[in-house]
Amino acid sequence: MVRPRPNRIERLPEQYFTSLLARVAAVASEPGEPLIDLGRGNPDVPPPAHVVDALVDAAHEQTAAVHGYAPFAGLPELREAIVERYANVYGVELDPHREVAVVPGTKTALVEVALCVAGPGDAIALPDPGYPDYRSAVALAGAEHLSLPLDEAGRPEWDALTRKPALIYLNYPSNPTGAAAPDGVFGEAVALADWTDATVLHDFAYGDLVFDGRSPRSFLAEPGAREVGVELFSLSKSYGMAGWRLGFVLGNEELVARVSWLQEHVRAGIFVALQRAAIAALTGPQETVAERRALYESRRDRVVAALPALSPRCEGTFFVWLQLPEGWSCERVLQEIRVVLAPGEGFGARGHGRARLSLAVSDETLDAGLERLRQALARE
Ligand SMILES: Cc1ncc(COP(=O)(O)O)c(C=O)c1O
Repeated sequence: MVRPRPNRIERLPEQYFTSLLARVAAVASEPGEPLIDLGRGNPDVPPPAHVVDALVDAAHEQTAAVHGYAPFAGLPELREAIVERYANVYGVELDPHREVAVVPGTKTALVEVALCVAGPGDAIALPDPGYPDYRSAVALAGAEHLSLPLDEAGRPEWDALTRKPALIYLNYPSNPTGAAAPDGVFGEAVALADWTDATVLHDFAYGDLVFDGRSPRSFLAEPGAREVGVELFSLSKSYGMAGWRLGFVLGNEELVARVSWLQEHVRAGIFVALQRAAIAALTGPQETVAERRALYESRRDRVVAALPALSPRCEGTFFVWLQLPEGWSCERVLQEIRVVLAPGEGFGARGHGRARLSLAVSDETLDAGLERLRQALARE
């Protein structure tokens, strides 16, 4: 019999998305109309065909170079590909050897960076509202969770920090609020990090999904940013490759080296065929990125037009942040009209009375869900 000793695993919080899925599955099994799931954030548009072709072609190569252990630090061509993309799209010049770590998805990197920077006795500041998995990183690092409240525009209320953080997480465009980076926020983060010796982690998972003519804004374009922090870039949202598990930690040389060093101890590289496909994604035709952005923007517009009573907000990502009317809750919406929304309180105290609606569903599903919500509002 396995008798685990109490350790860091006990510190892990509830896994928000696992609990949400379990709740949805339970309600789905009850009698009633089919559920309309607008709670999940799973990209619904597949990767570009040339990326899939690159994966298949590589997988057909019967060589150890493809099917054996991959270089721990990632293929040099892959690191060069992301550097080229950063230069072309975000105007940021990076060194492919010293300022890039290849990771199996940025969810993993969220934890790895915390392990590399913080430990017991340290505090990690997390945006509220913010992505729930950041709390897992704090727990695994054995650090203290500091709340960094965001105002309605998504701007951090820095004065609310109750002590000096060792690490600060930022995320623009934001899951769940859909806020794009407010002007000046990266400069404020760099100044605070300089003053407190904190490290900044900017989660850029939705970086390319910004609307209304905005240009994507990398934290690393801010003067001084790479001296104090790193940015996480993911292939999941920009290229619809969430299941493929590929991302990058970019920026601060010392921290990138620590993440690579940690990875050398716990992983043995990423399947070379996946890396080849990622190179194809990053260096091949980029039209699909703009198409994806336009698609989510058009769905955002449908929500804004259908639900003005819920004050929908979204400047980017594929989520719309809603204000629920008095007496409403996501649980009530789930039970009474069988529409799944992600409960706002799961993203932090500032999420109370809010809900996150996903645009990563077909237009038909979205329209059906909006119609049920609209009718429920009309009945109030
Ligand atoms: C804000 C945010 N950061 C990071 C991730 C992790 O992305 P991935 O591990 O697929 O790169 C997600 C995934 O949904 C996310 O919403």
